Amino acid sequence: VVNGCSEGREFIHNLKQGYYKQISVLTGAGLSTNAGIPDYRSPDTGLYSILEKEYGMKSPTDIFQLSIFYRNPQLFYGYLKKINFDMFHPTLSHYFIGFLETKGILCVNFTQNIDGLELRAGISREKLVTAHGDVTRAHCPSCDKEYDIEELKRKAMNDQIMYCDTCPDVPIKPRIVFFGEMLPDEFHEKSSLLSEKSDCGLIIGTSLQVAPFNSLPILFPTITQLVVINNEPLDHIPRISASSLYYKGNCDSIVQEIIKECEWEKDFNDFRAS
Ligand code: OAD
Ligand code: ZN
Repeated sequence: VVNGCSEGREFIHNLKQGYYKQISVLTGAGLSTNAGIPDYRSPDTGLYSILEKEYGMKSPTDIFQLSIFYRNPQLFYGYLKKINFDMFHPTLSHYFIGFLETKGILCVNFTQNIDGLELRAGISREKLVTAHGDVTRAHCPSCDKEYDIEELKRKAMNDQIMYCDTCPDVPIKPRIVFFGEMLPDEFHEKSSLLSEKSDCGLIIGTSLQVAPFNSLPILFPTITQLVVINNEPLDHIPRISASSLYYKGNCDSIVQEIIKECEWEKDFNDFRAS
């Protein structure tokens, strides 16, 4: 239960009374598992475990390594073919973030997810930082020329590789950040929102294993209330182990309970239906 401890009661009270005016949300693949998209590191169900067990890959993160992509684009194209990101729908937790925005209390949502479900849940581009890019656009990783993402998807579906017109043998990829690539400028530009504006930080569905995203929590001022909603604790991050409220479990169930405790159910359902 979300208000089972005194810190929980205080958090719910502050949220309900509107004391938090700038809530920042850090999200990862756990937000989309309820939509049917596997995360990366969950044992058995995560992409890396599947690649290891079913495909015998020793180093499954290779699928997002730029140097490997140049040599063997089939690997990533196979993943694109298998996971058709157009098929999925936002989860309750995605809609909750959109709902916070309509209430005027969302400061920013930093996401590591590339599935684009945030935008479909009503979160605006202005409030969203897609730290690892997204699958709505395509480019050449060498010259950065923009390509048609629909054409890329068609090629992947037909087991073909799309190459750059000008760079010999360089395959086209979606504008997602592979290991070895720079994060978008907005990741750095908007990080001051965490240090200067946020009075509450929600961390949902991420293992915080990947740099530099996992250094974002340290930016929150010590007086900022941090709340972790995740299947597993994130105590390897000092700012989190030092002071945060931890709700363990499925994020959709926990968020649903938070909505209920705040008596926001009707407004939330109206928002979701709109
Ligand atoms: P991970 O797979 O590393 O972590 C997902 C976290 O969410 C884990 O801690 C799970 O226990 C938790 N989780 C899963 N489903 C959940 C649910 N329904 N409710 C609550 N918790 C849940 O995914 P990320 O942290 O997003 O990068 O991974 C970060 C980056 O690593 C990805 O963006 C990707 C990957 O390599 C690149 O591709 C560049
Ligand atoms: Zn090129």
